[in-house]
Amino acid sequence: MEAKTLRPTAIVTGASSGIGEAYASLLASKGYDLWLVARRTDRLEALGRKLAQEHGVGARIDGCDLADRERVRELCGRIAREEHLEILVHNAGFGVHGQVGEADPAKLLAMADVHVTSTIALCSAAAPVLRKRGKGAIVVVSSIAGWLTGSGSATYCATKAFETSFAVSLGKELKPAGVAVQALCPGYTRTEFHDTPEYAQWNRDSVPRMLWSTPQQVARRSWERLGKDGVCVPGVLNRAIVAVGRNGMVSRLREKFRASRKKA
Ligand SMILES: NC(=O)c1ccc[n+]([C@@H]2O[C@H](COP(=O)([O-])OP(=O)(O)OC[C@H]3O[C@@H](n4cnc5c(N)ncnc54)[C@H](OP(=O)(O)O)[C@@H]3O)[C@@H](O)[C@H]2O)c1
Repeated sequence: MEAKTLRPTAIVTGASSGIGEAYASLLASKGYDLWLVARRTDRLEALGRKLAQEHGVGARIDGCDLADRERVRELCGRIAREEHLEILVHNAGFGVHGQVGEADPAKLLAMADVHVTSTIALCSAAAPVLRKRGKGAIVVVSSIAGWLTGSGSATYCATKAFETSFAVSLGKELKPAGVAVQALCPGYTRTEFHDTPEYAQWNRDSVPRMLWSTPQQVARRSWERLGKDGVCVPGVLNRAIVAVGRNGMVSRLREKFRASRKKA
């Protein structure tokens, strides 16, 4: 499917499920032509067809593994040529649960590629286009984990800390050109994120229900705060966790809680 109109274009990476899918739906409802990126193109095709039908927008499907640097380089070339680009939501990401030395290092390196390398590459391709237009926005989907540390999620926490820091600095660079940048830092969100084999032993119910958001709530809050907050943490409780988490207290409590559950 190709976009046929001259409406502004919004790229959403990781649009095949969860927060990316919710964000793509929101942007379609605002009248943006979509450029949907992920590996599962069957899902992107189905979403693109549905949103095109519901909102009359164009939907371009781009199957790309963002851990593959050559594919990312090609994607960046296409982004740099997209003169109607107005929004980049770089949302693709995943978690791997397991300590360093036990978790598959190939997966940890792929995580660094998706969260770090592709963030730099995609933002580098989009920034000049947006700067030239003198408007638009970049949302980098990070996590409250970027303020935390934890045994079993060293690479996740560190790469999310990178994404948050990168987005905040990029916001300072692009603000004079009229381009907004937001580090979107959700807490627990009901998506497919925890459906991987690494999380098979992990029980969603171990997290209090009040800490969970829906992907639609996350996307909506991000959109409401875009251009206002450089860092967006959806949910009052998550904002409290971040406020306390900055000094390491939440991470220490989490470790103690996990240790006590292991003993029980
Ligand atoms: N769910 C949570 O509790 C939570 C909390 C804080 C932050 N986040 C962040 O939110 C973002 C979205 O996650 P989600 O919760 O919506 O999980 P999700 O439902 O599992 O969606 C993840 C998306 O990322 C894409 N993706 C993963 N690896 C990719 C790769 N190598 N190349 C291209 N696309 C890739 C997936 O698409 P394909 O598999 O089709 O490629 C999928 O569309 C992530 O950055 C995650 O770190 C999630």
